[in-house]
Amino acid sequence: MTKLSVNINKVATLRNARGGNVPDVLKVAQDCERFGADGITVHPRPDERHIRKSDVYALRPLLRTEFNIEGYPSREFIDLVLKVKPHQVTLVPDSPTQLTSNAGWDTKENQAFLAEVLDAFKQAGIRTSVFVSTDAEMIEYAAKAGADRVELYTEPYATAYPKNPEEAVAPFVEAAKVTRRLGLGLNAGHDLSLENLNFFHKNIPWLDEVSIGHALICDALYLGLQRTIQEYKNCLL
Ligand code: PXP
Repeated sequence: MTKLSVNINKVATLRNARGGNVPDVLKVAQDCERFGADGITVHPRPDERHIRKSDVYALRPLLRTEFNIEGYPSREFIDLVLKVKPHQVTLVPDSPTQLTSNAGWDTKENQAFLAEVLDAFKQAGIRTSVFVSTDAEMIEYAAKAGADRVELYTEPYATAYPKNPEEAVAPFVEAAKVTRRLGLGLNAGHDLSLENLNFFHKNIPWLDEVSIGHALICDALYLGLQRTIQEYKNCLL
């Protein structure tokens, strides 16, 4: 079964636009679970422009499904994750000012750094995932650094999908095979949507988890959160 982890950063962005507590990020996370989400993802950034540290602490005891915290492993981020102890941490190579993650790690260049950080999380019993492109070498070095899983950066798939779905997914199928051969778990995320998710899953049915935020929250404006989550889940059957 491929798990659906809902990234609730956009909900926090909406809340922060007015300074109050509407929408209530904690309630939305719990409702996502009630409506069938298999996990909740947050991406706290140093400027707290969407998810705040206080949200991360408050979510931990409330969640009944898998909690995934993603972000750049700064000292502050590492300390937060070690205190909160989520089920999974996903390491992303984005700079503090970046709009959104737009590339995977160079796991070869950063092997020593990643190995040290991954080891600290492992010793705390937290499953680790490293955000990578489809480049086989990057996946191999993620394995060498000690990652439990990789998360494939799916923006190139989503962009190429409308023109030629088969061509768009081909490098991801190859990368998924490399990942399986190395004995790593496999996640995927970025720009996945109701349009492109089912085809991705059909081609890589052994995916462990997809992490979806932007498109899902936008769809919820039209369909409502409950129906939207069900529709995303249906893409993973
Ligand atoms: N995975 C990672 C590592 C991300 O940084 C993001 C965006 O925060 C996502 C998945 C989800 O991407 P999207 O919001 O496009 O669904």
